[in-house]
Formats: sequence, C-alpha cells, structure tokens
Amino acid sequence: MRNSGKTQKSKPRNGLVAALDVGTTKVCCLIAKPGGDHGPRIVGIGHQISKGMRNGVIVDLDQAEASIRTTVEAAEQMAGENIHEVIVNLSGGRPKSRLVAYEVAIGGHEIGDGDIQRILDPANLAQEIPDERELLHRIPMGYGVDGNRGVADPRGMYGERMSVNMHVVSALRGPLRNLEAVIRRCHLDLEGVVVSPYAAALGCLSEEEKALGVTCIDMGGGTTSVAVFFDGELVHTDVLPIGGAHVTKDIARGLVTPLNHAERLKTLYGNAMASANDDRQLIQVPSVGEEETPEAHTVPRSVLVGIVKPRMEEIFELVRDRLKQGGFDQVAGRGLVLTGGASQLPGAREMADTVLNKQARFGRPLAMDGMAEASAGPTFAACAGLLQYGLGHRAEETGAEMPQSAEPQGRFGRIGQWLRENF
Ligand SMILES: Nc1ncnc2c1ncn2[C@@H]1O[C@H](COP(=O)(O)OP(=O)(O)OP(=O)(O)O)[C@@H](O)[C@H]1O
Ligand SMILES: [Mg+2]
Repeated sequence: MRNSGKTQKSKPRNGLVAALDVGTTKVCCLIAKPGGDHGPRIVGIGHQISKGMRNGVIVDLDQAEASIRTTVEAAEQMAGENIHEVIVNLSGGRPKSRLVAYEVAIGGHEIGDGDIQRILDPANLAQEIPDERELLHRIPMGYGVDGNRGVADPRGMYGERMSVNMHVVSALRGPLRNLEAVIRRCHLDLEGVVVSPYAAALGCLSEEEKALGVTCIDMGGGTTSVAVFFDGELVHTDVLPIGGAHVTKDIARGLVTPLNHAERLKTLYGNAMASANDDRQLIQVPSVGEEETPEAHTVPRSVLVGIVKPRMEEIFELVRDRLKQGGFDQVAGRGLVLTGGASQLPGAREMADTVLNKQARFGRPLAMDGMAEASAGPTFAACAGLLQYGLGHRAEETGAEMPQSAEPQGRFGRIGQWLRENF
C-alpha cells in the first residue's frame, strides 16, 4: 500500500523503471525490469478510469491522486515490488515547441565533452523561456563550428565559436506543478516529465519512420497531440484540447441520450465516413432521464454518422492548420501514424489521409517482453513511450546499451537537411 503517510524521497532504487500515463479518460502504469536475455521485461501493469482530469489538465487533485494511487498499486501488486519514482507525461500547460540557436566561444582549443555540456546547459535558455513557463525538453539537432553548420558531433574539432540548434519544449508552470504535487502526494518521486505527444511517438514509431520523417497523432479522450520527426529527431510537438470525449458529448447532446450510451453507440456504430447503407440501418437510442428502464427511440445510423463526422473533421482540420502555421505540414513527408483510443473510430484513418494529405497507419505500442494483450492497444502507446524514455534515461545514467527507440534528452542528434536549410 502506498498510503503510509510518510514521504519516500530519494529511496534507494530497486532497478525497476516505471511509467505513468495520466490521461483524461484513463490512467495507466507500466513497470519494467531492465536487462534480461530478451531486453527489458514488463513486470507490472495497472489501468484505471481517470478522475479529476479535463483535457489533459488536473482539475481535482484529490480525485487525480486516488486514480493514480489505485493504478500504481495494481501495477506494483502484479510486479510484486513497490516503485519509488515514475516517468510521467504532461498534456496540460499548453506545451510549446520552439527551435532555438545558441553559441559559445571556444577560443581555438579542441572541443571536448565539457564544451558540449556548457553549450547545452539549460541555464543558457533562461532568456528564451518566459517566467510563467518551464523547460521540459531540449533536444540538440546539430552543431556548427565557426559558421560551418551541419556538424553532427563537434568533439575533437578546433574552432573559435561553436553553435547548436535545439528543439526546446516548454510548458506553463502551474499545470506542471499540479502534476508534480499529485505524484508527490502518492509518495512517488518524479524521474522525468515527458510531453505527451513525444511519449506517444516513442511508444509506437519505428526507427525507420523517425529517420524518414513522420507525423504522429495521438487522439485521446480530451486531447489530440502531435509529434513531428525529421531525420531521426523530434522537431515539433503540439497538444490540442479536443479529443474523443467531445465526439461522445456531441452524440449525447444530438441524440438526447446519456453519456454512457453515447459512448457505446459511438464504439458500436460510429464512423467518421458516411456510407450508402447508413440511412437503412436503424439504431436504438436510450432516452435521457429514463435510466432504470430506458425507453429507446430509433434513428437511422446516418444521423449518428452525421454527428460524428463533422467533429472528427474539425479535429483533423485543426491539426492540419496548426501544422501549417508552424511550417511543419510538409517537412516530415507523407508518413502519418495514428494512435490513442479515439483513433480506433472506424473511418478515422481514411479521414486523416484525406484532410492531412498523408498516408496513415495505426500505431500500437512497440513489442516488449511481458506486454499483455490488454496493454498492446493504441491507448497504451503513450505509456509504452514513457517506459522507453525511462529505460533510455537509465541506460544513459549507467552507461549500458540503449534500448531501441529510446530518446533520452541530451543525446547528440544528427542535423537534418530541413534544419540546415531553414534554421
Ligand atoms: N473503439 C473505439 N472507437 C472509437 N473511439 C474509441 C474506441 N475506444 C476508445 N475510444 C475513445 O478513445 C478515447 C480515450 O482514448 P485514450 O485512452 O487514448 O485517452 P486518454 O489518454 O485517457 O486521454 P488524453 O490522451 O486525451 O489525455 C475516448 O474518448 C474513447 O471514447
Ligand atoms: Mg493519452
């Protein structure tokens, strides 16, 4: 049980890596044991309906705490061990991506690890991050020495000045502090905070996709988040406060039915694309206010599709417009990966293809030893990505070999052609 009432700050590590996805509709926790013949093994899985969240933001600390506690406890019980720290995702706090250039003097000496540390020092970015925001990620994307850009790794080179291009992700301090507070109230330490779209992308993209360039869209219950990779690097992230729950609410309002029935109708009969048979198929819709013996009214399926389609269209159009605004609509090519619970709506992929002019596939968590069938679906992509991130982070700390697709902060990135041309 994790309600002993005493804090467990800086407890000795037991070698487990734990990921906690605090979503709008569900909380999930994965615990992994690194090492082993087949790589890291998942030893604990917890999964709960989420309370106290709205559009990726904590709105009720007590409820959020209770959801997280029960989820973590279930995962710990399965693992047979307690965890002391977690890698967690952040969807709230309006995360913002920016590309930043920074330069330091070298004075003609050979560039070494110390110079790299100096140029990547988060303190250098103080001017770039407004007071109300906090730095979440700084991902080096390429270096320059004396104006010669496109240097992948400048160590060993000589020069007077060294520059770096970085992808910087920041978020509003308030929502980040609330997340930290809730995690602390569960007597857990924060090992890392990862912006949600980055986590989802790490969970379901292949190395090849990242290298070729790809856009990953995680459609959750209360948010739709976007990550763009180019030349192996994360170059852009965005989080929109709209998701599958909005579709459900539209159905409840439009068909005058309770939310739980709207959710059921959406998953059973919903479709983002209209089809010729929709007018002929009749569906039973329980009426609102008659919970005990709900009297149903009958509507053609086309009415349901007529509610679902415009909302899904709106979400994809918003994503398209935001990508365009940031100049990231073309950068990553036509590859698109759709993940998250709301991506399971039939017709979502076809609609994404059309609206975004890309070619989509569904993204599920990358295979890992011990991953149960129940946690292999798209709703677990972000949690699996947090685990990948955590495993990469630990491997970097201990000098062990990094697992595939882990992208811990601070590793030296390659420069992309697009960045060379546009930065
Ligand atoms: N088969 C399905 N068809 C359509 N929608 C579905 C299906 N299964 C789940 N959903 C929707 O997926 C959403 C939940 O997805 P997910 O678990 O990825 O969200 P979350 O991580 O809790 O939220 P967020 O990422 O926005 O904070 C809900 O809106 C639910 O209605
Ligand atoms: Mg989610």
